Amino acid sequence: MIENDLFLRACRRQPVDRLPVWYMRQAGRYQPEYRKIKERYSLVEICEQPELCAQVSMLPVQQLGVDAAILFSDIMIPVGAMGVPFEIEADRGPVIHRPVRTQDDVAELTEVDPERDLPHVLETIRLLRGQLTVPLIGFAGGPFTLASYMIEGAPSREHLLTKSMMYRDPQTWRQFMDRLATMIIVYMRAQIHAGASAIQIFDSWVGSLAPEDFREYVLPAMKKIFASLKDLNAPLIYFGVTTADLLPLLRETGADVIGVDWRTPVHIARQRIGNDLALQGNLDPTVLLGPWPEVERRARAIIDAGIQRPGFIFNLGHGVLKMVEVDQLQRLTAFVHEYSEQKLTERSEGTSS
Ligand code: CP3
Repeated sequence: MIENDLFLRACRRQPVDRLPVWYMRQAGRYQPEYRKIKERYSLVEICEQPELCAQVSMLPVQQLGVDAAILFSDIMIPVGAMGVPFEIEADRGPVIHRPVRTQDDVAELTEVDPERDLPHVLETIRLLRGQLTVPLIGFAGGPFTLASYMIEGAPSREHLLTKSMMYRDPQTWRQFMDRLATMIIVYMRAQIHAGASAIQIFDSWVGSLAPEDFREYVLPAMKKIFASLKDLNAPLIYFGVTTADLLPLLRETGADVIGVDWRTPVHIARQRIGNDLALQGNLDPTVLLGPWPEVERRARAIIDAGIQRPGFIFNLGHGVLKMVEVDQLQRLTAFVHEYSEQKLTERSEGTSS
């Protein structure tokens, strides 16, 4: 049962008495308990065991006191179900030996039926729903980010092959985006039906596109995805990095919440996105490698800006780094809760300076 609905309230821009906080990649490599599990199993093997996944998802809720859990899985898991085998290389990321490069490759992608092809993911969600008292965030990769891994065959900084397909063969690109959008829609509907209370689309690398290219080559797929999920009434979060100049376009996707990285200050992100969407972010994850007073100073600035409008969720600007200390995250979570509650109380009593 959800006892703490702060996160959902903030997604819906309803009043809160303190800010909700969770961290992207909060279930994972910085945790000694996860590293212990990793000694025995690969990421994919963990993802196939619902009990283990549920345990990893629960850890940050129990240890850090965050206001939302995230499903333990990876954006690549449904890619395997589309008929494209992948491996995760340590400290590198997803690698695909037979990448998707041609119109025929796209045509051969198989349709995903989550109940049939990814039952362990849905089972993890059901297990978590029985244990959690905070909302569970389900997720998928965004179409551009998934396409990039599938076309390049490995993590890429420039996304050259991806963009070449876009420019050289826009018809194949559109078919590809359409196949990915269809997969994401059925997968997200299944996750919500299984018990996810909100979903986040991690389109991590979409910021490599110029606004006009985002509008032309990605926005139609994103609009379709969010429009097809609206009826389920679960908040929809869209996240990417280096999206400063895309922010006005991200709002056009139909998302309820936009995840912003640390390169754009919160008040500027709000100006670009508008006040009728919620915002999530955006502490630089590397700040957590510095001394506590600096973490506190930077978090305070984000909170001061965040509470100016309803609809703010404290998070990092990208995922937790693997060398971060659990203590540091614990302390940050407590600080966000305490400081934001104090500021919001001052505000409602009209004593704020
Ligand atoms: O709390 C959580 O976020 C845990 C669930 C989760 C994982 N991956 C597990 C994972 C989530 C939400 C993801 C999303 C993901 N995966 C993204 C989008 C978010 C982002 O960071 O931009 C991307 C781009 C991927 C693809 C991916 N998977 C990469 C690039 C890597 C290797 C680099 C890295 O960050 O470790 C992975 C492997 C991966 N996925 C790990 C974990 C815990 C670590 C490696 C492992 O344990 O084998």
